[in-house]
Amino acid sequence: MAQHKEIDPARIPRHVAIVMDGNGRWAECRHQPRLFGHRAGVESVQEVVTVAADLGIQVLTLYAFSSENWKRPQAEVGGLMSLLKTFLVRELDRMLQNNVRLSCIGDLLRLPADVQETLEQSIKATAANNGLILNLALSYGGRAEITQAVQRIGRLCQAGELRPDDIDEEVIADHLYSAGLPDPDLLIRTGGEARLSNFLLWQSSYAEILFSKVMWPDFRREAFVDAILDFQRRERRFGKTGAQLRTG
Ligand code: FPP
Repeated sequence: MAQHKEIDPARIPRHVAIVMDGNGRWAECRHQPRLFGHRAGVESVQEVVTVAADLGIQVLTLYAFSSENWKRPQAEVGGLMSLLKTFLVRELDRMLQNNVRLSCIGDLLRLPADVQETLEQSIKATAANNGLILNLALSYGGRAEITQAVQRIGRLCQAGELRPDDIDEEVIADHLYSAGLPDPDLLIRTGGEARLSNFLLWQSSYAEILFSKVMWPDFRREAFVDAILDFQRRERRFGKTGAQLRTG
């Protein structure tokens, strides 16, 4: 239930997706190593998850590691994997208490075996929860996601189980990593850059996009609530005119 008096509880975005950018620059400004920024970023994750659950958001997708992030120095990649694992272990109780269900999208087989195992355990342990879905995008790339969907659909056609003419948007959506999840209503990118960076390319066609200058480690409750308020001030037309929407 919404606990912030300015927020309209009837217009809460169902799905909020976030590109959590700016950890490295935040740390560099403080003359600290980049991992210091990622560590502070985990605290923002905890806070935003709590607010999202309080507000009754159904799905929160966090871009925690992109398919391109594998190109970063090994020490940073290893540090991020270990932060992720620690987060999953430490947060499990809180996820269970807060009725949060964990899910993941991405090329998960590229993740270290121990991280895959911890993820699997947390996904299983929270599977019966029916509150917020915390969906982590890990080793995720939008183009890779669409490519694997096309491959799987191609195999179905080859096996005679699907006719090419029957491929529609629903069939494609059903073969993405995100099958079963609603499309994002609001996509936030922190850190001041205005690009999508291969995030949810198919799913974001009608998402409201908010580019925030706030670095992710500083993106806490207030910034998140402001983002929801900004979303609620927008008119979503889905290709129609404003007049059409107002006359129903
Ligand atoms: C982008 O900032 C951020 C990442 C690549 C990693 C995000 C990871 C976390 C917030 C912590 C781990 C996540 C979870 C879910 C526990 P950047 O490093 O590109 O920043 P920069 O643009 O300032 O260099």
